[in-house]
Amino acid sequence: PFRHIVTLDGPAGVGKTTMAKRLAGALRIPYMDTGAMYRVCGMRLGEEATAMSEADILQTLRAIHFSLDGSGEGTRLLVDDVPMGDEIRTERVGMLASTVGTLPSVRAYCREAQQGLGVATPLVAEGRDMGTVVFPRAAYKFFLEAAPEIRAQRRLDQLKEMGASDLPSLDDLAAQIAARDHQDRTRKEAPLKPAEDAILIDTGKLDVDGVFKRLMQEIKAAG
Ligand code: C5P
Repeated sequence: PFRHIVTLDGPAGVGKTTMAKRLAGALRIPYMDTGAMYRVCGMRLGEEATAMSEADILQTLRAIHFSLDGSGEGTRLLVDDVPMGDEIRTERVGMLASTVGTLPSVRAYCREAQQGLGVATPLVAEGRDMGTVVFPRAAYKFFLEAAPEIRAQRRLDQLKEMGASDLPSLDDLAAQIAARDHQDRTRKEAPLKPAEDAILIDTGKLDVDGVFKRLMQEIKAAG
């Protein structure tokens, strides 16, 4: 299983979601935003998650049901049959996601949900551990990178576009992203890192069309 999966991993603000949508549209398959899944777990478990008992964590997790609706750019992640809203897109929720993402029970829950969705359909799967842990046998694996300043600027542009209130300064956002990346790269389980067989792409030197072309070239070359 999982041969027909494209994995896109990399740090925050590197363009994974943008590329996942574009690729899903071109390949006519759904995309799966696994960061959104960790964000939902973070919101449900809350700030006290790391102090909760294992039993309470599991009870909260079991009440969360993820599914995918539609395909291509219009794919929607449903949580308990309701489409995800933009309220999960703040950096506060991103950090909460990163913190609950250090808990083995949360990782196991998300991994099983993700693999369950990947069994049912080909997917573009984007996150931190798609190529390393969740879909190690995927046929196409990419790891996107870009300098921290570029990623912070992209995130700020996204927040502006969403009409977010209380925009952070670029410096604050860069510091928050750096702290989150550090936590993601240094955690014990499923740390952020490229799979050995992933293709590395620096998205700082290319625009959106350029990155998309590179990805499609590699996929076509692999057949
Ligand atoms: O991609 P996004 O910024 O929405 O991810 C939020 C957080 O969720 C990440 O910083 C990371 O800690 C966690 N995450 C993860 N594994 C994934 C996707 C996201 O641990 N596959």
